[in-house]
Amino acid sequence: MKGTVLITGGAGFIGSHVASELLKSGYHVRVVDSLVTQVHGDNPDRPSYLHRDAELILGDLRNPDLLDEALEGVDAVYHFVALVGVGQSMYQIAEYTSVNNLGTAILLERLVKNNVKKLIVASSMSVYGEGLYLTPDGQPYPNANRTTTQLKAHEWEMQTPDGLPLTPVPTPETKQPSLASVYALSKFDQEQMCLMVGRAYGVPTVALRFFNVYGPHQALSNPYTGVLAIFASRLLNGQRPIIFEDGRQLRDFVSVFDIARACRLALEVDDARDQIFNIGSGETVTVEQVASRLARILGKRVDPEISGNYRVGDIRHCFPDIARAKEVLGYKPQVKLEAGMRDLAEWLEQQTAHDRFNEMRAELTSRGLVV
Ligand code: UD1
Repeated sequence: MKGTVLITGGAGFIGSHVASELLKSGYHVRVVDSLVTQVHGDNPDRPSYLHRDAELILGDLRNPDLLDEALEGVDAVYHFVALVGVGQSMYQIAEYTSVNNLGTAILLERLVKNNVKKLIVASSMSVYGEGLYLTPDGQPYPNANRTTTQLKAHEWEMQTPDGLPLTPVPTPETKQPSLASVYALSKFDQEQMCLMVGRAYGVPTVALRFFNVYGPHQALSNPYTGVLAIFASRLLNGQRPIIFEDGRQLRDFVSVFDIARACRLALEVDDARDQIFNIGSGETVTVEQVASRLARILGKRVDPEISGNYRVGDIRHCFPDIARAKEVLGYKPQVKLEAGMRDLAEWLEQQTAHDRFNEMRAELTSRGLVV
């Protein structure tokens, strides 16, 4: 036995894969999770995909007594509890701040009183806002932004205020954060609070900035996040995926199996302490390509619909430079997008997905957050 690990949010998509990865490697795993309705449905039970050897404590992270119980005898903590919808965070502001920011604060207060030896926190690409760009003469341009006027005119691509075109390049961890949503702000808060408190109390802490994670067990009925799952729900219900902007937004889709390995490495590699790492696949694709490829893999003969609408707060291009994770963690992505989408498709075949895209679009449109 290598030690006991507590995973907050361990019954969720990423946490449950990390639980399996750690159990496979000989750790004892305990999970604390409140099984929120948006992910687990009404009257949720222990999810069948959660490894049977994982101990589950049901409850809310903001309950300090529950945390003391959960932290008993724990050597390391993974902090994955978070509400994760970017658009939704712009109107459920109090709830996002309570679960994500206050939840982390309460966890840290209890954690430093227990003898925890390592903390790993899930952060997100969202803290960058737009990724890094280069000007036509090759100078880094880290503050790219689009005005409402540009978006209304469907001028999707990034340019300088003087109209010079900008070219997206891999974003390193050193890029200045640019927080465009309450969700992004809360993720930045989570990672910084963990690093800060970890340093102050001598608890080695690692923050992992995940890019677009996909794979089996991803919540299929949550229309607010997880673009591949949203497309899958549409396709499984005989609908065309609907694409915002022109579909040429660049992203890095990383398999949850690679994410789980990166999480284990963050625990096991001593040199990772007090650092931030981008975790992606190193492959870049457009949102339209990913929608079309998923349709093909699922055997659906439909093309995605390019809507020309846009979501307020969306990022045009962001994909990671993963050199630091390779060098320090020894991280090596193993799942190519094509193979990863097949893993996803195989699992999807046995699922019933409730397509709530129209509900999400109506909700965001009524608030002026989809235009
Ligand atoms: C977002 C966050 C990610 C975060 C995750 C949490 C950003 C940029 N991304 O990812 O950091 O960890 O939530 O779950 O903050 N789109 C469509 N049609 C749809 C849905 C989306 O075209 O039905 C488009 C969006 O307009 C966007 C892209 O696809 O251009 C999705 O990108 P992104 O926001 O990265 O995806 P999320 O999975 O929501």
